[in-house]
Amino acid sequence: MLNFSFHNPTSIHFGVGQIEKIDKEIPQDAKVLVIYGGGSIKKNGIFDQVIDALGGREWAEFSGIEPNPNYDTLIKSLPLINDMQVDYLLAVGGGSVIDGAKFIAAAAKFEAGEPWDIIAKRAKVSQALPLGAVLTLPATGSESNSSGVVTRNGHKLPFTNKLLRPQFAVLDPQVTLSLSDRQISNGIVDAFVHVMEQYLTYDVNAKVQDRFSEGLLMTLIEEGPKALNSETKDDLDVRANAMWSATLALNGLIAAGVPQDWTAHMIGHELTGLYDIDHARTLSITFPAVMKVRRDVKRDKLLQYAERVWHVVDGNEDQRIDKAIELTENFFKTMNVPTRLSEIDLDATHIDTILEKLQQHGMVALGERREITPDITRIILEAAL
Ligand code: NZQ
Ligand code: ZN
Repeated sequence: MLNFSFHNPTSIHFGVGQIEKIDKEIPQDAKVLVIYGGGSIKKNGIFDQVIDALGGREWAEFSGIEPNPNYDTLIKSLPLINDMQVDYLLAVGGGSVIDGAKFIAAAAKFEAGEPWDIIAKRAKVSQALPLGAVLTLPATGSESNSSGVVTRNGHKLPFTNKLLRPQFAVLDPQVTLSLSDRQISNGIVDAFVHVMEQYLTYDVNAKVQDRFSEGLLMTLIEEGPKALNSETKDDLDVRANAMWSATLALNGLIAAGVPQDWTAHMIGHELTGLYDIDHARTLSITFPAVMKVRRDVKRDKLLQYAERVWHVVDGNEDQRIDKAIELTENFFKTMNVPTRLSEIDLDATHIDTILEKLQQHGMVALGERREITPDITRIILEAAL
């Protein structure tokens, strides 16, 4: 196992009715900005529950954060924050809203230039507004991690800072009942690939992390289809298991002490930035291709994955690996997400553009050993056609 330091101070309030815990988490005299997206929280009653929980606190709202949050939208919140002297941000939404709120938290206190420098120039963030989250879409893990992704002019770029980790997160599985099938699928697939990016690398004898990861993968494989099936989709236990899996998939726990890949994500971000493809639907295309092209360097872990997650024990090693990759793709297909670039109308003529973007963003040494050069990325993209 590799050395690590692990600290995740986000308080989690999990379960039906837990939105009321906001009252215990946010200081009574705080001036709160409630941040949300396109308005789903007003239709499904979550907004009213949040406002009830805020009680007598002074609050204002900032809405319109779009999926794959846009820089130009986010900075529109800054005058309101200044005028009202907001001192607490409450993000109510999925990964886009929470990521957007993280960026706003940093931008509101940033004085050393244009807020975009925080991402583009990795400018130092030494203070940020405190932030809480009410999660409405289990997927990204953003509710208890310190990272975010923001888009500007087609450049979709990640940022991270420990000051941006939410102080608390409310995870009420009931709020996920209003999700569309598309967003349910996206959430399950994103969480699945998060686990895989941290699991399917090379063996460092990290038994606990491996078994935690395998447990999460098996839970997602079991609960994902149930969350789409009309007979089981409203079962709160199904939603709860999916929700907690997604949080644990990217809260730092399974990342501690193991190598990490993230190639599928970095290529996926370019597909979203260039062609506006849902985040998870980029991963269901890029990840199987990474498995295929990197099967030799990931060999030991692929065999472990085949046996422990899919119970594949028959055949020689190559046959078992083939089977594990096939079962992974089949799982994605069951979740109704694309597994090929052709399914999103992209072909070989788009590969150069994608590679150029990756190069522009410095993504030229990807993977757990930083040995995925643009030439190897090309092969991965070709495998995804
Ligand atoms: O805008 P609203 O009205 O909130 O509607 C959203 C949006 O249209 C809707 N939705 C959310 N909760 C709902 C709901 N509709 C009905 N009922 C509910 N309960 O779902 C749509 C998609 O929401 P979005 O927040 O964009 O989805 P997701 O949670 O998948 O977030 C994706 C973003 O997170 C980033 C992605 O790149 C992408 O920008 N990621 C963030 C990560 C992180 N912070 O660690 C890691 C991930 O790998 C990922 O990159
Ligand atoms: Zn992701």
